[in-house]
Amino acid sequence: MRRPLTVGNWKMNGSHDSINELLDGILAGLGAVTKAEVVVCVPYVYLQQVSEKLKGTVLAWGAQNVNDNDAGAYTGEISGSMLKDFNCRYVIVGHSERRTMYGESDGDVAARFKVAQAYGFVPILCVGELLEDHERGMTNEVVARQLDAIIGDAGINAIGDCVIAYEPVWAIGTGRVATPEQAQEVHAMIRSRLAHLNPDVATQVRILYGGSMKPDNAGDLIRMNDIDGGLIGGASLKAEDFLGICMAAN
Ligand code: PGA
Repeated sequence: MRRPLTVGNWKMNGSHDSINELLDGILAGLGAVTKAEVVVCVPYVYLQQVSEKLKGTVLAWGAQNVNDNDAGAYTGEISGSMLKDFNCRYVIVGHSERRTMYGESDGDVAARFKVAQAYGFVPILCVGELLEDHERGMTNEVVARQLDAIIGDAGINAIGDCVIAYEPVWAIGTGRVATPEQAQEVHAMIRSRLAHLNPDVATQVRILYGGSMKPDNAGDLIRMNDIDGGLIGGASLKAEDFLGICMAAN
């Protein structure tokens, strides 16, 4: 059985005070979330604050990216060894905002994925098609290409130690959510592609849906066979909404 998982992706949001308040709100409601695992991926500069506050709680934390170099002249970047100092468990890699706004290629994402695992983090690998791909019926091709880039570089067994997040780019932050059937179809395609290479990895890996997930649509999505939880942006910034989704996953 795959343990359901909800991950909050705070993106570039929050302040010292607002984060304290948000975490207090989430922690207060987490007692009811007995089965699902819950994670928040926070801006680098708040990792110290978040790690101190969440130490010893059931709420895990992670970062939103990692550079694939160990150290050196990479202005503005953060390495795996730096993240290690803050006891991150998870690291998002290949988020569509990184791919589209900051030019991260499939190869870059694969390099970051491997570094995340080398440092002992669980990569949350994001895949998903643009609106134009979706409209041209290219969803499966795009997602398969993004997935194959990681498998080709890191190997199929590496997928057993990661989380995959299918995030149709047209659904991110738009309020336009994929239907449970649309999402399930892509999740099933991902799982069957993995099963051809290693059935155990396919059965074991958790595949999250992301893109305008809210408390009122989370249940129908997570109920689908191959949807194991959610990667949540906007709705992870309000404790009540995030907890609503955690309860749906639970
Ligand atoms: P959203 O973002 O929930 O605000 O659509 C999801 C994501 O980008 O991970």
